[in-house]
Amino acid sequence: MSSVLLSGIAELVTNDPVHDGTPSGVLADAAVVVEAGRVAWVGRRQDAPATDDARDLGGRAVVPGFVDSHSHLVFAGDRSAEFAARMAGTAYDGGGIRTTVAATRAAPDELLEANLARHLAEMRRQGTTTVEVKSGYGLTVHDEARSLAIARRWTEETTFLGAHVVPHEHAADPAAYVDLVTGPMLAAAAPHARWIDVFCERGAFDVDQARAVLAAGDAAGLLGRLHANQLGPGPGVRLACELRLAAVDHCTFLDDGDVEALTASGTVATLLPGVEFSTRSPYPDARALLDAGVTVALASDCNPGSSYTSSMALCVALAVREMGMTPAEALWAATAGGARALRRDDVGVLAPGRRAHLTVLDAPSHVHLAYRPGVPLVAEVLG
Ligand code: NIG
Ligand code: FE
Repeated sequence: MSSVLLSGIAELVTNDPVHDGTPSGVLADAAVVVEAGRVAWVGRRQDAPATDDARDLGGRAVVPGFVDSHSHLVFAGDRSAEFAARMAGTAYDGGGIRTTVAATRAAPDELLEANLARHLAEMRRQGTTTVEVKSGYGLTVHDEARSLAIARRWTEETTFLGAHVVPHEHAADPAAYVDLVTGPMLAAAAPHARWIDVFCERGAFDVDQARAVLAAGDAAGLLGRLHANQLGPGPGVRLACELRLAAVDHCTFLDDGDVEALTASGTVATLLPGVEFSTRSPYPDARALLDAGVTVALASDCNPGSSYTSSMALCVALAVREMGMTPAEALWAATAGGARALRRDDVGVLAPGRRAHLTVLDAPSHVHLAYRPGVPLVAEVLG
Protein backbone atom coordinates (compact mmCIF):
# COMPACT_ATOMS: atom_id res chain seq x y z
CA MET A 1 0.00 0.00 0.00
CA SER A 2 1.57 3.32 -0.98
CA SER A 3 2.22 6.00 1.63
CA VAL A 4 2.69 9.74 1.06
CA LEU A 5 4.59 12.12 3.32
CA LEU A 6 3.13 15.66 3.41
CA SER A 7 5.74 18.06 4.77
CA GLY A 8 6.41 21.81 4.59
CA ILE A 9 3.56 22.35 7.09
CA ALA A 10 4.38 25.51 9.05
CA GLU A 11 1.51 24.83 11.46
CA LEU A 12 -0.61 21.70 11.76
CA VAL A 13 -3.82 21.78 13.77
CA THR A 14 -4.69 18.17 14.65
CA ASN A 15 -7.35 18.51 17.40
CA ASP A 16 -5.39 15.76 19.16
CA PRO A 17 -4.32 17.05 22.61
CA VAL A 18 -1.46 14.56 22.77
CA HIS A 19 0.77 17.03 20.90
CA ASP A 20 0.60 20.16 23.06
CA GLY A 21 -1.85 19.52 25.87
CA THR A 22 -4.52 21.79 24.32
CA PRO A 23 -7.70 20.63 22.53
CA SER A 24 -6.28 21.99 19.24
CA GLY A 25 -3.15 19.83 19.32
CA VAL A 26 -0.98 22.26 17.33
CA LEU A 27 2.41 21.26 15.88
CA ALA A 28 4.96 23.57 14.23
CA ASP A 29 7.13 22.37 11.31
CA ALA A 30 5.00 19.26 11.03
CA ALA A 31 4.40 16.39 8.67
CA VAL A 32 1.59 13.92 8.01
CA VAL A 33 1.76 10.48 6.43
CA VAL A 34 -1.32 9.43 4.46
CA GLU A 35 -2.03 5.84 3.45
CA ALA A 36 -5.19 4.60 1.73
CA GLY A 37 -7.13 7.75 2.59
CA ARG A 38 -6.31 7.56 6.29
CA VAL A 39 -3.80 9.35 8.48
CA ALA A 40 -0.99 6.88 9.19
CA TRP A 41 1.35 9.16 11.17
CA VAL A 42 1.45 12.77 12.50
CA GLY A 43 4.42 14.54 14.08
CA ARG A 44 7.42 16.83 13.71
CA ARG A 45 9.05 16.81 10.30
CA GLN A 46 12.40 15.58 11.61
CA ASP A 47 10.78 12.49 13.14
CA ALA A 48 8.89 11.42 9.99
CA PRO A 49 9.17 7.80 8.86
CA ALA A 50 10.27 6.76 5.38
CA THR A 51 7.45 6.73 2.79
CA ASP A 52 6.92 5.75 -0.84
CA ASP A 53 6.20 9.30 -1.95
CA ALA A 54 6.53 12.87 -0.62
CA ARG A 55 5.04 16.34 -1.16
CA ASP A 56 6.13 19.70 0.21
CA LEU A 57 3.20 22.01 1.03
CA GLY A 58 5.38 25.10 0.95
CA GLY A 59 5.20 26.41 4.51
CA ARG A 60 1.41 26.56 4.75
CA ALA A 61 -0.93 25.83 7.66
CA VAL A 62 -2.98 22.62 7.53
CA VAL A 63 -6.19 22.09 9.50
CA PRO A 64 -8.75 19.25 9.58
CA GLY A 65 -11.40 19.59 6.87
CA PHE A 66 -14.40 21.50 8.18
CA VAL A 67 -17.32 19.38 9.41
CA ASP A 68 -20.48 21.34 8.57
CA SER A 69 -23.09 19.59 10.72
CA HIS A 70 -26.15 21.66 9.71
CA SER A 71 -27.37 22.61 6.23
CA HIS A 72 -30.58 22.69 4.20
CA LEU A 73 -29.38 22.16 0.64
CA VAL A 74 -32.21 20.32 -1.11
CA PHE A 75 -34.14 23.30 -2.43
CA ALA A 76 -35.05 25.36 -5.45
CA GLY A 77 -35.85 29.04 -5.83
CA ASP A 78 -34.39 32.30 -4.64
CA ARG A 79 -35.19 34.54 -1.68
CA SER A 80 -32.91 37.47 -2.33
CA ALA A 81 -35.92 39.82 -2.30
CA GLU A 82 -36.76 38.60 1.22
CA PHE A 83 -33.16 39.30 2.25
CA ALA A 84 -33.28 42.79 0.76
CA ALA A 85 -36.55 43.50 2.59
CA ARG A 86 -34.98 42.28 5.83
CA MET A 87 -32.03 44.59 5.40
CA ALA A 88 -34.59 47.39 4.98
CA GLY A 89 -36.14 46.50 8.35
CA THR A 90 -38.49 43.51 7.97
CA ALA A 91 -37.91 40.95 10.76
CA TYR A 92 -37.09 37.27 10.06
CA ASP A 93 -39.83 34.96 11.38
CA GLY A 94 -39.34 31.81 9.31
CA GLY A 95 -42.36 32.68 7.16
CA GLY A 96 -40.25 32.55 3.99
CA ILE A 97 -39.75 28.80 4.43
CA ARG A 98 -43.09 28.31 2.62
CA THR A 99 -41.74 30.22 -0.41
CA THR A 100 -38.94 27.68 -0.74
CA VAL A 101 -41.39 24.80 -0.16
CA ALA A 102 -43.47 25.93 -3.16
CA ALA A 103 -40.39 26.23 -5.41
CA THR A 104 -38.96 22.89 -4.23
CA ARG A 105 -42.21 20.99 -4.80
CA ALA A 106 -42.37 22.40 -8.34
CA ALA A 107 -38.76 21.46 -9.20
CA PRO A 108 -37.82 18.25 -11.03
CA ASP A 109 -35.39 15.86 -9.31
CA GLU A 110 -32.62 16.84 -11.74
CA LEU A 111 -32.79 20.50 -10.71
CA LEU A 112 -32.79 19.68 -6.98
CA GLU A 113 -29.79 17.42 -7.44
CA ALA A 114 -27.91 19.95 -9.59
CA ASN A 115 -28.50 22.65 -6.95
CA LEU A 116 -27.28 20.33 -4.21
CA ALA A 117 -24.17 19.32 -6.16
CA ARG A 118 -23.32 22.96 -6.89
CA HIS A 119 -23.56 23.96 -3.23
CA LEU A 120 -21.55 20.94 -2.08
CA ALA A 121 -18.81 21.79 -4.59
CA GLU A 122 -18.84 25.37 -3.32
CA MET A 123 -18.41 24.07 0.24
CA ARG A 124 -15.56 21.76 -0.69
CA ARG A 125 -13.66 24.57 -2.43
CA GLN A 126 -13.88 26.39 0.90
CA GLY A 127 -12.41 23.53 2.92
CA THR A 128 -15.47 21.56 4.03
CA THR A 129 -15.10 17.77 3.77
CA THR A 130 -18.14 16.49 5.71
CA VAL A 131 -21.65 17.94 5.29
CA GLU A 132 -24.97 17.13 6.92
CA VAL A 133 -27.96 17.82 4.64
CA LYS A 134 -31.59 18.15 5.78
CA SER A 135 -34.85 17.78 3.93
CA GLY A 136 -37.64 20.09 5.05
CA TYR A 137 -38.64 22.00 1.92
CA GLY A 138 -40.88 19.23 0.54
CA LEU A 139 -43.32 18.61 3.40
CA THR A 140 -45.31 15.95 1.52
CA VAL A 141 -44.60 12.22 1.68
CA HIS A 142 -43.33 12.24 -1.90
CA ASP A 143 -41.30 15.44 -1.67
CA GLU A 144 -39.59 14.61 1.63
CA ALA A 145 -38.71 11.10 0.45
CA ARG A 146 -37.27 12.33 -2.87
CA SER A 147 -35.34 15.15 -1.14
CA LEU A 148 -33.66 12.62 1.14
CA ALA A 149 -33.06 10.08 -1.63
CA ILE A 150 -31.25 12.82 -3.59
CA ALA A 151 -29.25 13.97 -0.53
CA ARG A 152 -28.25 10.36 0.26
CA ARG A 153 -26.49 10.08 -3.07
CA TRP A 154 -24.08 12.79 -1.87
CA THR A 155 -23.67 12.37 1.90
CA GLU A 156 -24.19 9.78 4.64
CA GLU A 157 -25.34 12.56 6.98
CA THR A 158 -28.95 13.00 5.90
CA THR A 159 -31.65 14.37 8.18
CA PHE A 160 -35.44 14.08 7.88
CA LEU A 161 -36.96 17.48 8.72
CA GLY A 162 -40.61 16.94 7.79
CA ALA A 163 -41.35 18.89 10.99
CA HIS A 164 -39.85 22.12 9.62
CA VAL A 165 -43.11 24.10 9.49
CA VAL A 166 -46.75 23.16 9.00
CA PRO A 167 -47.38 23.55 5.24
CA HIS A 168 -50.25 25.80 4.15
CA GLU A 169 -52.55 22.91 3.14
CA HIS A 170 -52.52 21.67 6.77
CA ALA A 171 -52.71 25.10 8.43
CA ALA A 172 -56.21 24.41 9.78
CA ASP A 173 -55.19 21.13 11.40
CA PRO A 174 -51.55 21.01 12.56
CA ALA A 175 -52.21 17.84 14.59
CA ALA A 176 -53.11 16.01 11.38
CA TYR A 177 -49.81 17.18 9.88
CA VAL A 178 -47.86 15.81 12.87
CA ASP A 179 -49.67 12.48 12.32
CA LEU A 180 -48.58 12.55 8.69
CA VAL A 181 -44.95 13.31 9.66
CA THR A 182 -44.81 10.57 12.31
CA GLY A 183 -46.67 8.07 10.09
CA PRO A 184 -46.41 7.73 6.31
CA MET A 185 -43.87 10.52 5.80
CA LEU A 186 -41.44 9.03 8.31
CA ALA A 187 -41.91 5.58 6.81
CA ALA A 188 -41.01 6.91 3.35
CA ALA A 189 -38.12 9.05 4.61
CA ALA A 190 -36.45 6.71 7.09
CA PRO A 191 -34.69 4.46 4.54
CA HIS A 192 -32.80 7.51 3.24
CA ALA A 193 -32.03 9.25 6.55
CA ARG A 194 -29.67 8.86 9.51
CA TRP A 195 -31.18 11.66 11.62
CA ILE A 196 -34.53 13.24 12.45
CA ASP A 197 -34.90 16.93 13.31
CA VAL A 198 -37.73 19.26 14.40
CA PHE A 199 -37.96 23.06 14.33
CA CYS A 200 -39.14 23.49 17.94
CA GLU A 201 -40.11 27.14 18.04
CA ARG A 202 -43.17 29.38 18.37
CA GLY A 203 -44.80 29.37 14.91
CA ALA A 204 -43.39 25.93 14.04
CA PHE A 205 -43.76 22.95 16.43
CA ASP A 206 -44.29 23.03 20.20
CA VAL A 207 -42.44 20.87 22.68
CA ASP A 208 -45.10 18.12 22.79
CA GLN A 209 -45.17 17.87 19.02
CA ALA A 210 -41.36 17.82 18.94
CA ARG A 211 -41.31 15.03 21.51
CA ALA A 212 -43.80 13.01 19.46
CA VAL A 213 -41.80 13.42 16.25
CA LEU A 214 -38.52 12.49 17.95
CA ALA A 215 -40.10 9.43 19.59
CA ALA A 216 -41.46 8.22 16.26
CA GLY A 217 -38.06 8.79 14.68
CA ASP A 218 -36.36 6.84 17.44
CA ALA A 219 -38.77 3.94 16.91
CA ALA A 220 -37.87 4.01 13.19
CA GLY A 221 -34.13 3.87 14.02
CA LEU A 222 -33.30 7.54 13.39
CA LEU A 223 -31.11 9.60 15.74
CA GLY A 224 -32.57 12.87 16.99
CA ARG A 225 -31.39 16.47 16.78
CA LEU A 226 -33.28 19.75 17.18
CA HIS A 227 -33.57 23.32 15.94
CA ALA A 228 -34.36 25.30 19.11
CA ASN A 229 -34.25 28.67 20.86
CA GLN A 230 -33.54 30.52 17.59
CA LEU A 231 -36.22 33.20 17.57
CA GLY A 232 -36.81 33.42 21.31
CA PRO A 233 -36.51 31.54 24.60
CA GLY A 234 -38.30 28.19 24.74
CA PRO A 235 -38.26 24.59 25.94
CA GLY A 236 -36.44 23.04 22.97
CA VAL A 237 -32.91 23.08 24.38
CA ARG A 238 -34.10 21.47 27.61
CA LEU A 239 -35.94 18.75 25.63
CA ALA A 240 -32.80 17.98 23.61
CA CYS A 241 -30.79 17.62 26.82
CA GLU A 242 -33.44 15.49 28.52
CA LEU A 243 -33.40 13.11 25.54
CA ARG A 244 -29.57 13.18 25.41
CA LEU A 245 -29.67 14.14 21.73
CA ALA A 246 -26.35 14.48 19.88
CA ALA A 247 -26.91 18.18 19.21
CA VAL A 248 -29.29 21.10 19.56
CA ASP A 249 -28.83 23.83 17.01
CA HIS A 250 -29.13 27.66 17.07
CA CYS A 251 -29.16 28.14 20.91
CA THR A 252 -29.45 31.91 20.44
CA PHE A 253 -31.78 32.61 23.38
CA LEU A 254 -30.69 30.61 26.44
CA ASP A 255 -31.32 31.04 30.16
CA ASP A 256 -29.10 29.72 32.97
CA GLY A 257 -31.14 26.52 33.23
CA ASP A 258 -30.59 25.79 29.52
CA VAL A 259 -26.84 26.22 29.93
CA GLU A 260 -26.81 23.96 33.00
CA ALA A 261 -28.78 21.31 31.11
CA LEU A 262 -26.34 21.45 28.20
CA THR A 263 -23.37 21.07 30.55
CA ALA A 264 -24.94 18.12 32.36
CA SER A 265 -26.20 16.26 29.29
CA GLY A 266 -23.17 16.60 27.03
CA THR A 267 -25.51 17.51 24.14
CA VAL A 268 -23.52 19.62 21.68
CA ALA A 269 -24.71 23.23 21.26
CA THR A 270 -24.32 23.97 17.55
CA LEU A 271 -24.09 27.69 16.95
CA LEU A 272 -24.93 29.09 13.51
CA PRO A 273 -23.58 32.64 13.33
CA GLY A 274 -24.40 32.96 9.63
CA VAL A 275 -28.04 33.18 10.80
CA GLU A 276 -27.45 36.07 13.15
CA PHE A 277 -25.33 37.81 10.50
CA SER A 278 -28.04 37.38 7.85
CA THR A 279 -31.07 38.13 10.03
CA ARG A 280 -29.56 40.89 12.20
CA SER A 281 -30.38 38.96 15.37
CA PRO A 282 -28.25 39.03 18.51
CA TYR A 283 -25.45 36.44 18.45
CA PRO A 284 -25.53 33.52 20.92
CA ASP A 285 -23.19 33.80 23.90
CA ALA A 286 -20.55 31.25 22.96
CA ARG A 287 -18.21 32.46 25.69
CA ALA A 288 -20.77 31.67 28.41
CA LEU A 289 -21.32 28.19 26.95
CA LEU A 290 -17.60 27.40 26.75
CA ASP A 291 -16.98 28.73 30.26
CA ALA A 292 -19.77 26.46 31.53
CA GLY A 293 -18.10 23.43 29.94
CA VAL A 294 -20.61 22.97 27.10
CA THR A 295 -19.32 21.34 23.89
CA VAL A 296 -19.82 23.91 21.11
CA ALA A 297 -19.93 23.25 17.37
CA LEU A 298 -20.12 25.79 14.56
CA ALA A 299 -22.05 25.13 11.34
CA SER A 300 -23.22 27.17 8.34
CA ASP A 301 -26.96 26.35 8.39
CA CYS A 302 -26.63 27.02 4.65
CA ASN A 303 -30.19 27.63 3.38
CA PRO A 304 -31.84 30.17 1.08
CA GLY A 305 -33.60 32.04 3.91
CA SER A 306 -31.83 32.63 7.20
CA SER A 307 -28.19 31.98 6.23
CA TYR A 308 -27.24 31.67 2.58
CA THR A 309 -23.53 31.15 3.16
CA SER A 310 -21.55 27.97 2.54
CA SER A 311 -18.42 29.38 4.19
CA MET A 312 -17.26 27.76 7.40
CA ALA A 313 -14.37 30.25 7.44
CA LEU A 314 -16.96 33.06 7.67
CA CYS A 315 -18.61 31.24 10.59
CA VAL A 316 -15.23 30.96 12.32
CA ALA A 317 -14.53 34.65 11.77
CA LEU A 318 -17.96 35.67 13.12
CA ALA A 319 -17.60 33.39 16.14
CA VAL A 320 -14.28 35.03 16.98
CA ARG A 321 -15.30 38.61 16.29
CA GLU A 322 -18.89 38.56 17.60
CA MET A 323 -19.23 35.62 19.99
CA GLY A 324 -16.15 35.72 22.20
CA MET A 325 -14.44 32.58 20.91
CA THR A 326 -10.68 32.41 20.37
CA PRO A 327 -9.51 31.45 16.86
CA ALA A 328 -8.43 28.05 18.21
CA GLU A 329 -11.80 27.43 19.92
CA ALA A 330 -13.71 28.46 16.81
CA LEU A 331 -11.66 26.19 14.53
CA TRP A 332 -12.10 23.29 16.96
CA ALA A 333 -15.87 23.90 16.98
CA ALA A 334 -15.97 23.96 13.15
CA THR A 335 -14.08 20.65 12.87
CA ALA A 336 -13.98 18.37 15.94
CA GLY A 337 -17.12 20.04 17.34
CA GLY A 338 -19.05 19.30 14.14
CA ALA A 339 -17.85 15.70 14.28
CA ARG A 340 -19.15 15.38 17.87
CA ALA A 341 -22.47 16.88 16.78
CA LEU A 342 -22.71 14.13 14.15
CA ARG A 343 -21.39 11.41 16.49
CA ARG A 344 -18.51 10.76 14.11
CA ASP A 345 -15.13 9.62 15.35
CA ASP A 346 -13.47 9.28 11.94
CA VAL A 347 -13.43 12.99 10.96
CA GLY A 348 -12.60 16.32 12.59
CA VAL A 349 -9.32 15.11 14.12
CA LEU A 350 -6.01 14.38 12.38
CA ALA A 351 -4.64 11.32 14.17
CA PRO A 352 -3.59 7.83 13.09
CA GLY A 353 -6.58 5.88 11.78
CA ARG A 354 -8.77 8.92 11.09
CA ARG A 355 -9.76 10.00 7.60
CA ALA A 356 -7.10 12.10 5.90
CA HIS A 357 -9.39 15.09 5.31
CA LEU A 358 -6.98 18.00 5.22
CA THR A 359 -7.58 21.63 4.40
CA VAL A 360 -4.43 23.46 3.32
CA LEU A 361 -4.48 27.22 3.97
CA ASP A 362 -2.65 29.87 2.01
CA ALA A 363 -1.58 31.26 5.37
CA PRO A 364 1.03 30.47 8.01
CA SER A 365 -1.49 29.80 10.81
CA HIS A 366 -5.12 28.99 11.51
CA VAL A 367 -5.54 32.42 13.14
CA HIS A 368 -5.73 33.87 9.63
CA LEU A 369 -9.20 32.30 9.20
CA ALA A 370 -10.54 34.94 11.60
CA TYR A 371 -7.84 37.58 11.04
CA ARG A 372 -8.52 37.78 7.27
CA PRO A 373 -12.34 37.51 7.01
CA GLY A 374 -13.77 37.17 3.52
CA VAL A 375 -10.44 36.17 1.99
CA PRO A 376 -10.38 32.83 0.10
CA LEU A 377 -7.55 31.24 2.10
CA VAL A 378 -8.11 27.59 1.13
CA ALA A 379 -5.25 26.53 -1.16
CA GLU A 380 -6.17 22.87 -1.44
CA VAL A 381 -8.51 20.26 0.04
CA LEU A 382 -7.23 16.69 0.40
CA GLY A 383 -9.24 13.54 1.11
O1 NIG B 1 -32.27 26.71 10.43
N1 NIG B 1 -35.07 27.78 11.53
C1 NIG B 1 -35.56 27.05 10.71
N2 NIG B 1 -35.06 26.66 9.55
C2 NIG B 1 -33.93 27.27 8.88
C3 NIG B 1 -34.34 28.43 8.06
C4 NIG B 1 -35.05 28.03 6.87
C5 NIG B 1 -35.50 29.12 5.95
O2 NIG B 1 -35.67 30.32 6.33
O3 NIG B 1 -35.72 28.76 4.78
C6 NIG B 1 -32.86 27.63 9.88
O4 NIG B 1 -32.58 28.81 10.12
FE1 FE C 1 -31.42 25.04 10.12
